[in-house]
Amino acid sequence: MATRRLGIVMYGVTGRMGLNQHLVRSILAIRQEGGVALPNGDRVMPDPILVGRNAERVAALARQYGIERSTTDLAAALKDPRDEVFFDAATTQMRADLLSQAIEAGKHVYCEKPVADTLEKAVKVAKLAKSKGVKNGVVQDKLFLPGLRKIKMLREAGFFGRMFAVRGEFGYWVFEGDWGQPAQRPSWNYRKADGGGIILDMLCHWRYVLDNLFGKVKAVSCLGATHIPKRVDEDGKLYNADADDAAYATFQLEGGVIAHMNSSWCVRVRRDDLVTFQVDGTHGSAVAGLTKCWTQHRVNTPRPVWNPDVPQTMNFYSQWEEVPENIVYENGFKIQWEDFIRHVVADTPWHHGLIEGVKGVQLAELGLKSWAERRWLDVPEIEL
Ligand SMILES: NC(=O)c1ccc[n+]([C@@H]2O[C@H](COP(=O)([O-])OP(=O)(O)OC[C@H]3O[C@@H](n4cnc5c(N)ncnc54)[C@H](O)[C@@H]3O)[C@@H](O)[C@H]2O)c1
Repeated sequence: MATRRLGIVMYGVTGRMGLNQHLVRSILAIRQEGGVALPNGDRVMPDPILVGRNAERVAALARQYGIERSTTDLAAALKDPRDEVFFDAATTQMRADLLSQAIEAGKHVYCEKPVADTLEKAVKVAKLAKSKGVKNGVVQDKLFLPGLRKIKMLREAGFFGRMFAVRGEFGYWVFEGDWGQPAQRPSWNYRKADGGGIILDMLCHWRYVLDNLFGKVKAVSCLGATHIPKRVDEDGKLYNADADDAAYATFQLEGGVIAHMNSSWCVRVRRDDLVTFQVDGTHGSAVAGLTKCWTQHRVNTPRPVWNPDVPQTMNFYSQWEEVPENIVYENGFKIQWEDFIRHVVADTPWHHGLIEGVKGVQLAELGLKSWAERRWLDVPEIEL
């Protein structure tokens, strides 16, 4: 059994996602476990170089986590043949450019979503990766949520019968920052010019969730809103929050399923989790949160009576049965990193290429257009 090194240029690791999910919970966790196991029993040890604009910050991060290499010189890092992979979790707006530079330098590329801030740029970079023959991928973390993996199992087990509707609720209250509670998300998310907006952010996710679990997305109708037009940023300054902070979107899926997703940063939570998906079918329904999932089979479906004259006597939540935790669910970002590393080194199958990210940007753009034009839009196939 041999261990092989894989050099990874990591960009944007000072950010929330880059640091918590990708560096700490994925790459460092993989290193601590002795690397990624390949099908032939060999192992791959990721060897990251942290790249960022602020030399002190990336060097401090590297020291904190026992990583040997950090730099501010991205061009030099991309030239180094010892590093085969480039990863980006920095700002959405620079992503397509950075990926293109890395692809031109012959690197395999992996990145956060969205793969670009416009469909045109997303298609261009995915085409470039294809033409240069580099391995490529985009984060699709929601597919690895235990709640959604349980829904997948239910579907494959035939639990739903004929599935016909999916209703999703995503969101929570993001504080405005102006009355004693600081905002808990980066301010760029609420400014159009900085790549913000919940439609670009969340429709990218809903595309791969719907495509993979419920049926390919065929059409979209989306109504966006900016419910909170002024917010306070990280420096305590009031700014115009001109990006959409809520989206009410309906999707028609191949096979006839109708899906509706509410996504909002202006909603107070009274449900099972920060995101929930209710799936209805002829034989049964299920509700999944991030980790848990509850089912109600047709034979266990109660018969509530509509009577506004008496208070409700049924406790609806108690009428559902929880799907047990029969397996261990690892961090989804880490699972995807391990799959990507195996794909790069051993050419194992991989289902999260840049094209999947392109489809996400396509749906987000169509969502924005549907909102602007107040109409349903079909989702055309994309050829690279
Ligand atoms: N998969 C998910 O669930 C998920 C969740 C949140 C964010 N994201 C994506 O991750 C990316 C980062 O989001 P975040 O929430 O971590 O944001 P963040 O603001 O915490 O981090 C942004 C990172 O980009 C860097 N950056 C910003 N402007 C830059 C510039 N001009 N030049 C170079 N670097 C720059 C910052 O230094 C930081 O490292 C976004 O593309 C976002 O869409 C994905």
